[in-house]
Amino acid sequence: MSQPVLDPRALARHLEAKQFIDGKLVAGKSGQTFDVNSPATGELVGKAAAGDAADVAAAVSSAAAAQAAWAKVPARQRGKLVAECGRLVDEHKEELARLVALETGKALRTESRVEAGVLADAFHFYGGLGSELKGETVPFNPDMLTMTVREPIGVVGAIIPWNVPMMLMALKIAPALVAGNSVVVKSAEEAPFAVLRVAELMGRILPPGVFNILSGMGPECGGPLVAHPKVGKITFTGSVETGKIIYRAAAEKLIPVTLELGGKSPMIVMDDADLDKAVAGAISGMRFTRQGQSCTAASRMYVQRGIHDRFVTALKAKVDAMKMGDPLDETTDIGTIVSRQQYEKVNAYIATGRKEGGTAHECSAMPADAKLAKGLYVRPVIFTGLPKDSKVVREEIFGPVTAVMKFDTFEDALAAANDSEYGLAATIWTKDLKTALDGARRLQAGFVQVNQNLVVQPGLSYGGVKTSGLGKEATLEAMLEHFTTKKTIIVNMA
Ligand code: NAI
Ligand code: MG
Repeated sequence: MSQPVLDPRALARHLEAKQFIDGKLVAGKSGQTFDVNSPATGELVGKAAAGDAADVAAAVSSAAAAQAAWAKVPARQRGKLVAECGRLVDEHKEELARLVALETGKALRTESRVEAGVLADAFHFYGGLGSELKGETVPFNPDMLTMTVREPIGVVGAIIPWNVPMMLMALKIAPALVAGNSVVVKSAEEAPFAVLRVAELMGRILPPGVFNILSGMGPECGGPLVAHPKVGKITFTGSVETGKIIYRAAAEKLIPVTLELGGKSPMIVMDDADLDKAVAGAISGMRFTRQGQSCTAASRMYVQRGIHDRFVTALKAKVDAMKMGDPLDETTDIGTIVSRQQYEKVNAYIATGRKEGGTAHECSAMPADAKLAKGLYVRPVIFTGLPKDSKVVREEIFGPVTAVMKFDTFEDALAAANDSEYGLAATIWTKDLKTALDGARRLQAGFVQVNQNLVVQPGLSYGGVKTSGLGKEATLEAMLEHFTTKKTIIVNMA
């Protein structure tokens, strides 16, 4: 299938029960599969290979064998090949968008096409950085030539989630590959197919074994990947709970990890903020078009008393005007929750918020189409009146649920925003420069923005503090720090 395949069902059938090992789509070792159903209609999208320790052994062995030769390819040439992968996925972006929309329920126009459209950017960005894998010379002793060199780690294991599966994968594998590592990815159960297609495309460009991808369950497939003696580094994006399991397993082997975990990102809106911009920012920040399934979702909105009521009214009106529907329909703004498990979790939080005394403003409307009757749709909810120790205010929901809270002084807002175990992202909305800068400095988060809400961008350091994670992604430094080791070489010239 070398031409783009715009029918996502046909593409899923082509990828059914397959792993990508040693440069080819191959049947999983055990022959076991699991169903991937469309969360919008319940239809079977395809059966995915249920990877286990035997698949991990095959993929790691292929990766380890390929890595030595890959590390000898000049760094700029590795970068060129990775950039070529970017060009190829870009040619296939529409098919990738359709496939990810079908398997995850993310609306095509507002989300899936956006993800597929920026995917190449990560490959192009890192593809240009091969020559930046520099070492240093050290003026240690005039009789000794002393230098450092950056070397690849070896085989990198990457475990990825389902919410932005292709882009989050690219931000891990592109720097790992350019740095001279080989990679084995474990995809998320909910979204195995689009990333497998990306692998198949990359396989036309990269030498066999340099890049492998397995689908399977977390403990049965991700577990053996982390534990494998030849895997020298794990990079993970997902839940705090799984992050801790991975960190413990990595400690047993004393290997480095990068963890990009959850968040409960605050948005502070001051009285003097531009109301229209703040409301638009609340909608994009909360990722209502992605059903709030984002680690940086602006799920705590602290709004100053003077602007609070107007903000809530305008936000409700805007979210009401968004259309929930079939993810593959061009007119749909909001698709579905990814899985039954997440759907139940989100609904339980909405029920809890009501019990805790909050008012749940339900927005938009359930889709009318009968074929979507079993779809995992949740109407976006804006809570007001929640106490500050509410679970809805404190815990990551990963659904279309935000809490709007009133405050009086800037100090109150900052204290509330920082009163969280998380520290991934934050925004502040004000026209006052001093308040903006003071807030930016004092907010405990890895990614702070003033009067805007950009998502992760290649070139801008991305990652959290507190329980939101360890290590940063998306920059040159991330490639150097997380995917290479530094060796010191001292040559006696005397
Ligand atoms: P998860 O953290 O369990 O899954 C993420 C990845 O880890 C998947 O590929 C999964 O198969 C793998 N995994 C699970 N258990 C594992 C284990 N024992 N060893 C190795 N790999 C393992 O997240 P899940 O269950 O999909 O979602 C639960 C919650 O996690 C969400 O409600 C949300 O709060 C959070 N989450 C955060 C994300 C982020 O972007 N930071 C992305 C996805 C979920
Ligand atoms: Mg889980």
